[in-house]
Amino acid sequence: MRANGIVIAIDGPAGVGKSTVGKLVASRLGYRFISTGKMYRALAWKALEAGVSLEDDAALVALARALKWEFPKGAGPEADVAIDGRRLERELVDERTGRASSAIAKLPGVRLFMKDMQRQAGLEGGVVMEGRDIGTNVFPDAELKVYLDASPKARAERRVAQLKAQGLPADYDEILDFIVKRDAQDSGRAVNPLRKADDALYLDSTSMPRDQVVASIVDMFGKAGGK
Ligand code: C5P
Repeated sequence: MRANGIVIAIDGPAGVGKSTVGKLVASRLGYRFISTGKMYRALAWKALEAGVSLEDDAALVALARALKWEFPKGAGPEADVAIDGRRLERELVDERTGRASSAIAKLPGVRLFMKDMQRQAGLEGGVVMEGRDIGTNVFPDAELKVYLDASPKARAERRVAQLKAQGLPADYDEILDFIVKRDAQDSGRAVNPLRKADDALYLDSTSMPRDQVVASIVDMFGKAGGK
């Protein structure tokens, strides 16, 4: 058993609610929550800042290695991402950073760096880690694996509702198109593509209320020997 509890891996496509669900599960269990997407976004942000090519795997790995990475406790269960002492927040949600993170996430050297760092961050357990390849690649030995899914239409509808609630403009067709393209990119990637691990619990949230998704995971936690 790990020192702080088990590792809960949550994978699934973009916009499926992995972060929302993962944070709720972490709060219920007193676990930490780590978004691995934010690590890819942080490196992408730094590469844009430093003018490093988003196609140069070796240069990106050298850049990543030269940075001091920390995941300090944030306000809620989620760990913040800090590089060289700077906590990144708004920088990471920027659309440009999002696109750049997708580009660098294809590169094998970058993925290997991220895998090593993510394993280090979660090795002691007591953690919910969210991404695309956590159950298949980063923690194939996770005690509990969840693959969270929802139809592209359901994800687009939720995103539209979210944006409207914030008073922001939202075009359903445009968002649906973006989601479909992102799915193809994540699943079609040669290195560590998005796929369900054979031993992952498959939850389709298309018509399952969020509380029920959280309850199913917490229920499995007990059965997986979590503490
Ligand atoms: O989840 P999020 O949208 O923040 O992820 C940012 C980018 O990083 C995505 O394009 C995704 O493909 C990539 N990613 C990945 N593997 C992970 C987490 C994110 O390739 N474990």
